[in-house]
Amino acid sequence: MSFIAKLAKIIEDSRIEYQSLQSGSFFVSEKVRDGANLLAHGDNALFMKYLMEKQQLSGKINLVYIDPPFFSKANYGTEVKLSSEKIKKIPAIKQKAYHDLWEDGMEEYLRMLTVRFFLIKDLLAEEGCLWVHLDWHSVHYVKVILDEIFGEKNFINEIIWTYKSGGVSKNYFARKHDNLLFYAKSPKYYFQAQQEKSYNRDFKPYRFKGVKEYKDETGWYTMVNMKDVWQINMVGRTSAERTGYATQKPEQLIERILESCTKEGDLCADFFGGSGTLAAAADKMKRRWISCDIGKLAVANAHKRLVQGSRNGYLLLVDEKSRNGQGVLQVEAKTEPSDISDKLELTVEVKSYKPDSLAEVPVDEKYIPIVRNIIKNDSLQLVDYWSIDFDYDGIEYIPDLFFCKNGPAIPFTCRRTAAEFHKIGIMVIDVFGNRSFTVIDLEGEL
Ligand SMILES: C[S@@+](CC[C@H](N)C(=O)[O-])C[C@H]1O[C@@H](n2cnc3c(N)ncnc32)[C@H](O)[C@@H]1O
Repeated sequence: MSFIAKLAKIIEDSRIEYQSLQSGSFFVSEKVRDGANLLAHGDNALFMKYLMEKQQLSGKINLVYIDPPFFSKANYGTEVKLSSEKIKKIPAIKQKAYHDLWEDGMEEYLRMLTVRFFLIKDLLAEEGCLWVHLDWHSVHYVKVILDEIFGEKNFINEIIWTYKSGGVSKNYFARKHDNLLFYAKSPKYYFQAQQEKSYNRDFKPYRFKGVKEYKDETGWYTMVNMKDVWQINMVGRTSAERTGYATQKPEQLIERILESCTKEGDLCADFFGGSGTLAAAADKMKRRWISCDIGKLAVANAHKRLVQGSRNGYLLLVDEKSRNGQGVLQVEAKTEPSDISDKLELTVEVKSYKPDSLAEVPVDEKYIPIVRNIIKNDSLQLVDYWSIDFDYDGIEYIPDLFFCKNGPAIPFTCRRTAAEFHKIGIMVIDVFGNRSFTVIDLEGEL
């Protein structure tokens, strides 16, 4: 069968899969600040069903941006660099973030995406839109599928995002752009045109009647409606927004999309959220957001980024598989009368941590002895984030304090003064994205 004939079958098979999908179960792992937004760990198809059935969000999302795997046939990883006073020199550990390999090739890949396009369409508001971020590997097939699902007339733009980074080849022109397909849910879609500089020929003034001209260090220019080719740098090695997550996209790119297609207060979602770039940009721009990723490392990266940087709060949701955590914590908590008041002073110290098993550590066999050595001699080096709820009610974990490793050191002791203490909850996320939670009941002690 030719691939063109197969496309029709891919769409029909995906429609059947979409129609028979059941909602996944998602549980609140942490409530950060007001818990108004959602960061989810799990498969996005099950999560989208959950949003429709449990959160009644059908027809409510104003913008969906997705940056799925590109059918690049590659594995993506990150490097963990740890240092310890107790271990001489720890070699960098390469860990797996996600893979973009498809046993049944392009058909399997397109089926995966097509099922999700149906779900996204259900979630979008009438004025809403979908942005699909791809590159040359699959964009031309995906365009045909999206024309079928969203309607050719609702195709609005193909944005070419061009950048300088990445490799080159002697055999073809350097591939220096990604393709972003922009579809509206309906002709009522919201759009706010943006303006950009257009430099005059020879950078000299034209002095046309009625045309406003400006000058900067490059030369004279006018302001025109933004074109569909965008030159934006990739996230550089030293950039403040760099999380270290493979394939992280620049916030500037997402800001432009949000500026054009949403208003303050609108709800935006990214169902292949990675390190949480859409969430971070949406939060800064006062949009509400939802971000989901299937990878624990992605969600850990996004959580660390958002817990520190986001103005608004969110619920960290986890699927059934990750509900019980994947590590073991040893924590010591002591209360004593405070020196300065008639209250109690609580001191909490995280003493040690280890993943449940080495199966939870997504690294190649050759790195396992290094990880074992760290667990044995300085296990706290594996902790990337920890948080504490001084008044855990046994139901909702709402951290009062959180600590993120941004450099080599992170404190493992904290104190709090209060008239009484009941239960405290402590959450740890390790450098591999494993979560562990423990509760200490202080009532017996008082
Ligand atoms: C290209 S990356 C996204 C990068 C992101 N835009 C950023 O700026 O960090 C694609 C992501 O899709 C995730 N992913 C792949 N299949 C998924 C699925 N079925 N459900 C949720 N996430 C998925 C991968 O784990 C990966 O993090």
